Amino acid sequence: MNPNTWPATLGPVICVVGARPNFMKMAPILRAFAAATPAIPTLLVHTGQHYDKDMSDRFFEDLRLPRPQINLDVGSGSHAVQTAEVMRRFEPVLDQHNASCVLVVGDVNSTLACTLVAVKKCIPVAHVEAGLRSYDRQMPEEINRVLTDQIADLLYTTERAAEANLAREGVPGERVRFVGNVMIDSLLANRELAQTPAATLAAAGADASLLADRRGYGLITLHRPSNVDQRETLEDIFTTLNQVATRLPLVFALHPRTRANIGKFGLEHLIDRESMLILPPQGYLEMLGLMNGATVVLTDSGGLQEETTALGVPCLTLRENTERPITVDFGTNTLVGRDRAAILRGVDDILAGGGKRGRMPELWDGRAAERIAADLGAWLTARHNGAA
Ligand code: UD1
Repeated sequence: MNPNTWPATLGPVICVVGARPNFMKMAPILRAFAAATPAIPTLLVHTGQHYDKDMSDRFFEDLRLPRPQINLDVGSGSHAVQTAEVMRRFEPVLDQHNASCVLVVGDVNSTLACTLVAVKKCIPVAHVEAGLRSYDRQMPEEINRVLTDQIADLLYTTERAAEANLAREGVPGERVRFVGNVMIDSLLANRELAQTPAATLAAAGADASLLADRRGYGLITLHRPSNVDQRETLEDIFTTLNQVATRLPLVFALHPRTRANIGKFGLEHLIDRESMLILPPQGYLEMLGLMNGATVVLTDSGGLQEETTALGVPCLTLRENTERPITVDFGTNTLVGRDRAAILRGVDDILAGGGKRGRMPELWDGRAAERIAADLGAWLTARHNGAA
């Protein structure tokens, strides 16, 4: 057997993406698989959990991701419906393709759904970004994380805390590999290409004069059900944001879930358009530029907590917990929950002193995907040779 070619009887790795935060994780993995020796063949499956141009297509362009070979077009639904629909539509894909492995990333419903289908067909599963825990089971993603990690075969982690979390759940150490953070691979690869905030605002037809403000601007993203699905909570957050907006201008990139709930609860009147610029969901390069240029980021996103740490931009996370503690212990992140006083104090501290400086966490060096390709390629060929 030629060690420079993938064994003919070993099928492709089926790589699954579904929702927006998956795309920036998968792009460097596909590139690393193509560049590996031997090159690892892949089949890219999009479940269609996210489907709008702003939530999906744009990221394929920005990240130079190849078009998915298969789109399951599941769309939106309740957790049960969405998860079940991905499972139902993913199973025939595995029947038709001789997959050597299924690779899933992150913690969205598509991640768990495809893992369940593959494991029951005795196809190995590799989970990238394994072991993160918020210890908050109200979070749908926490359920997806715990269950995926219990049944996946290879668990690639982004920070040391993940190993301890997995050990606590009885996961054998030999399944766990600390490789670094593929999301940061994407960030470092695209940093130079980031769109300037001025160009992003101009493209959105927004008034860019706030960029001249000496205090800079605060960037906001919010979409967690715990923050945006209840009227009182969302109303309370807007009241706080309006107070933040008296300190510095705000740019709010609005997620479709949040936009829909603002409409449903009739909260449009709470948006002070003088001091808060509302933008549609942004592309990857636009968001990178907006984050990089911000004085402070206020968010409930997992990805932004990591990206702001990598960029050295202070981040106030509107959650009580984080599954990414390294961003707090090592990076620029501070958990403020929805505590108005803590949020305003956080903003004031940042305006007065620049905020937490942070450092780049271990192995967030742009080479995580390369490590995954080397490890997974070796593991699959050894398994194949042992079984042959
Ligand atoms: C999902 C993930 C979450 C991730 C987030 C990033 C789960 C459980 N949640 O949450 O972990 O942080 O994606 O965005 O998997 N919608 C659109 N267009 C789209 C997609 C969704 O308008 O392309 C609207 C629909 O009204 C939908 C709602 O957004 O009902 C929520 O979408 P869904 O995929 O269910 O959850 P997210 O909140 O996006």
